[in-house]
Amino acid sequence: MNIDDVKNICVVGAGNMGHQISLHCAIKGFNTVCTDISEDQLKKAESFVDSYLPGRVKKGKMTEDEAKAARSRIRFTSDLKDAAKDSDYVIEAAIEVLALKRKVFADLDKIAPPHAILATNSSAIVSSRIADVTNRKDKVLNLHFFNPALVMKLVEVVQGPHVSDETTKISMDLCRRLDKVSVHVKKEVKGFLLNRILLRIFEEAEWMLEMDVASVEDIDKACVFGAGHPMGPFTLMDLTGLDLAYTMGLESFRETGDPAQLPKPHLVEHFVKGEFGQKTGKGWYDYTKK
Ligand SMILES: NC(=O)c1ccc[n+]([C@@H]2O[C@H](COP(=O)([O-])OP(=O)(O)OC[C@H]3O[C@@H](n4cnc5c(N)ncnc54)[C@H](O)[C@@H]3O)[C@@H](O)[C@H]2O)c1
Repeated sequence: MNIDDVKNICVVGAGNMGHQISLHCAIKGFNTVCTDISEDQLKKAESFVDSYLPGRVKKGKMTEDEAKAARSRIRFTSDLKDAAKDSDYVIEAAIEVLALKRKVFADLDKIAPPHAILATNSSAIVSSRIADVTNRKDKVLNLHFFNPALVMKLVEVVQGPHVSDETTKISMDLCRRLDKVSVHVKKEVKGFLLNRILLRIFEEAEWMLEMDVASVEDIDKACVFGAGHPMGPFTLMDLTGLDLAYTMGLESFRETGDPAQLPKPHLVEHFVKGEFGQKTGKGWYDYTKK
């Protein structure tokens, strides 16, 4: 198999990441099916597509014909079987829970054609913790997009010990066709490449808040105006989701047994109140006032 054999992409999960990954695939010429267990999320994803594409035309970023063609290449369904049965490449972007991902991959292994590559967009769960539920371990890998997936260029292609060179090559080629910049992560290390660096920053920012060294606003300002980051760590967490940061902290604790990995008190406070960041209107910042 090579990249020319990849025509149909299935994206599992229509949330923060999944709806944008699937739309991006459709814009770049792939027949794309986006699936989710939540009809509500699918509706939201579809209405995003229906407002995004005309918006791009209005801004002169896309012709009307290009927008129409992209729209015709994407569809939404809550039926996993229907979504994955003809896929050449699957990108799973469901919630960050290991047991759930293992179940999804076991199902996908039965549904998707034998040649299909099954990738997970997980931020922290390495594919070797999932691949053993399939009969195609060599075709199961991490393909890690960044948020917002329509905008961010970087994609990490993580080659665990079970992943074949062919799967890695096709995945890197797919990124090129998606007009992304891919990096080959040669080992399954925690946090992969960029998040490993960013997590150190998040962690230090949260400790400084816990110790009352500075406010959320001032920690963000320091990173933006002193280090030249496009946004501070708290603003970035609001964008990526505090629920994700919380879950990642818990998963990390379960993996290492290190209490320092547990979500910090301020993060827990926001989490229990359902303040997950931009998607709920409130997180470290209050977006309902803007
Ligand atoms: N949010 C980010 O910034 C970011 C960045 C890179 C990678 N990721 C990873 O992408 C994945 C998705 O994250 P997100 O932020 O989009 O989460 P999200 O909570 O916004 O969306 C997850 C979606 O998965 C759906 N879902 C739950 N169970 C499902 C199932 N069995 N089958 C199909 N869909 C199911 C939910 O209904 C929801 O719509 C996670 O693994 C996360 O680690 C997230």
